[in-house]
Amino acid sequence: MSSRLHESCAVAVLSCALLSAPAWAGDISRASAVRFYTVCASCHEAECSGRLSFRTEAAAAQGHMERYLGPLAWIDVEELFALLRHTKERCDYYPVSATLPPDRRWQAGDLAGWHVARGIGYFLPLGDLAPGPYRLQLAFASKAQGHLKVSGKRFEPVADEALCPQQQADIAFVVTDRGAHYLTVTGQSQLVEVTLHPAGR
Ligand code: HEC
Repeated sequence: MSSRLHESCAVAVLSCALLSAPAWAGDISRASAVRFYTVCASCHEAECSGRLSFRTEAAAAQGHMERYLGPLAWIDVEELFALLRHTKERCDYYPVSATLPPDRRWQAGDLAGWHVARGIGYFLPLGDLAPGPYRLQLAFASKAQGHLKVSGKRFEPVADEALCPQQQADIAFVVTDRGAHYLTVTGQSQLVEVTLHPAGR
């Protein structure tokens, strides 16, 4: 092995160690997860290759990320890169820890940490859902136009709807596989309340 090759291997191992530390220690910030799943996942969630296949490094992708999010600190770039790595390797959502409000009724205060910037997008873990029909109700501060999606752990959508300009949304969906589910909402209006309950209640 030439010394040149040795050098690049050492660099690759080092950068993997640095990048995988935040990814696998379970401490990627909630802010990065919210950004990734509202802004980046729409294009990148289908990249489940089952193995690592990056063409670029985090530094090279910074400009690309900033196109969607504006100027980013290096720690944010690393965390976003690690989230894409997680997506490519595991093909599921990063396990974001979240405390569910009583009766799965999220009010403005519960939603505060789960949006990218006012009116751009929300990412909300809905918790573990048993199979069956559900109703999801959303109330916006003003008429919202945008998109709503509920997905299972491996990104399979169980609800995928456009929001016409509307202040309330009432969505019915069916869960077939028990497990963690996630809501993403993109649009221009602030969410003031989200409730989720089994249909018929
Ligand atoms: C409109 C679609 C779109 C959005 C939104 C988007 N990307 Fe990308 N991204 C691409 C495409 C296309 C490529 C090049 C092909 C590929 O590697 O998937 C790419 C490449 C990348 C790469 C390099 C991948 C590699 O294999 O080297 C990274 C890292 C990345 N994106 C991260 C992000 C992050 C983080 C966000 C959110 C801030 C984001 N992207 C938002 C479409 C998008």
